[in-house]
Amino acid sequence: MILVTGGTGQVAQALAGEGVRVIGRPELDFDRPDSIAACLDAARPALVVNAAAYTAVDRAETEPDAAWRANRDGPAALAAWCAARDVPLIHISTDYVFDGLKGAPYVETDPTCPTGVYGASKLAGEHAVLGAGGRVIVLRTAWVYAAVGKNFVLTMLNAARRTRQVRVVADQRGCPTAAADLAAAITVIARRVGAGWQDDYAGVFHAAGSGATTWHGLAEAVFARAARHGLPPPEVTPIVTADWPTPARRPADSRLDCAALARVFGIALPTWEDGVTRTVDAVFA
Ligand SMILES: NC(=O)c1ccc[n+]([C@@H]2O[C@H](COP(=O)([O-])OP(=O)(O)OC[C@H]3O[C@@H](n4cnc5c(N)ncnc54)[C@H](OP(=O)(O)O)[C@@H]3O)[C@@H](O)[C@H]2O)c1
Repeated sequence: MILVTGGTGQVAQALAGEGVRVIGRPELDFDRPDSIAACLDAARPALVVNAAAYTAVDRAETEPDAAWRANRDGPAALAAWCAARDVPLIHISTDYVFDGLKGAPYVETDPTCPTGVYGASKLAGEHAVLGAGGRVIVLRTAWVYAAVGKNFVLTMLNAARRTRQVRVVADQRGCPTAAADLAAAITVIARRVGAGWQDDYAGVFHAAGSGATTWHGLAEAVFARAARHGLPPPEVTPIVTADWPTPARRPADSRLDCAALARVFGIALPTWEDGVTRTVDAVFA
C-alpha cells in the first residue's frame, strides 16, 4: 500500500485511488511529531508520498515556525522512519527553491537561493529527506492547480463570477502544473520503484507541466476555456509585480527543465494548456 500524506491537499487528493491510502490532519500532523511514527507504524506502507506541506507562501513570512515544522521537521521525521525500514519515499518540493534570476529553465543541479520563508523551509526539507539515508526521490513541481482546493485557477474563476475586470501579474514566469498530471507521474514512478529500485532514481527531479507562461497568460487561458462553458471573460489587465505587493518575494522566472524526469523515468507531463483545459472542464462538469 502507498501512503500519501497531505490529506485534503490538491496533490494528495489527486493521488487517491486503489492501493493508495491518503492520510491527513488530525491523524498525521507535523505539529505533533508523535503522530508521525504512530501513523506510519499503523499503516506499514510499502512506499510513502509526502504531499503535506505548509503552502501559504505569504503567511509563511509571519509564521516561519509553522512553515519550518511542516516543511523541514515533519519530512525529516518521515524520511527517518522510511530509511530505518528501507521504505522508499517520494517527497514533493517546489520551484520556489530558486530565486528566478537564471533567465533560463532551471535544471536540478542549478544553485538554489530561495527568496522567502516558504522556499527556504522547503529547501531545508529537501536536504533533510535526502540526508536521511534512505531511498528518496524529491520531485520539484510548480504552480499547482486542480478543480478543488485553493489555487490560482479557481481564484481566477471566482473573480470572473464577481467582477468584469481583473489585474494579473505578467512578469513572473513558471510552469503551471495540474495536480492530476503530477499525480499520474507519481503513480508511474511508484510503479517503477515497486518493480525494483535503481540507483539513478535517487535524488532531485523537476516535475512540472510542459511549457511555460506567466500568471497573466495562465489567467487568459482559464478565461478562454471558461467562456466555452458560458462564463463571460473579464477584461484582464497585465500588471508588473511591483503593482501587486505581497509579503513574500516570488521568483521572476522559475521555469523548470524536466528533461531528467524524461530520461530516467520516461515521463513528460502534459502541457500546461492541456491541464488547464481539463481542469476548467472539470470545474464546470
Ligand atoms: N500549490 C502549489 O502551487 C505548489 C507549487 C509548488 C510545489 N508545491 C508542493 O506540492 C506539494 C503539494 O501541494 P498542494 O498544492 O497539494 O498543497 P495544499 O493543497 O496546500 O495541501 C497541503 C496539505 O498539507 C497539509 N498540511 C499543512 N500543514 C501540515 C502539518 N503541519 N502537518 C500535516 N499536514 C499539514 C494540509 O492540511 P490541512 O488541510 O489540515 O491544512 C493539506 O492537506 C507540497 O509539497 C507543496 O509544497 C505546491
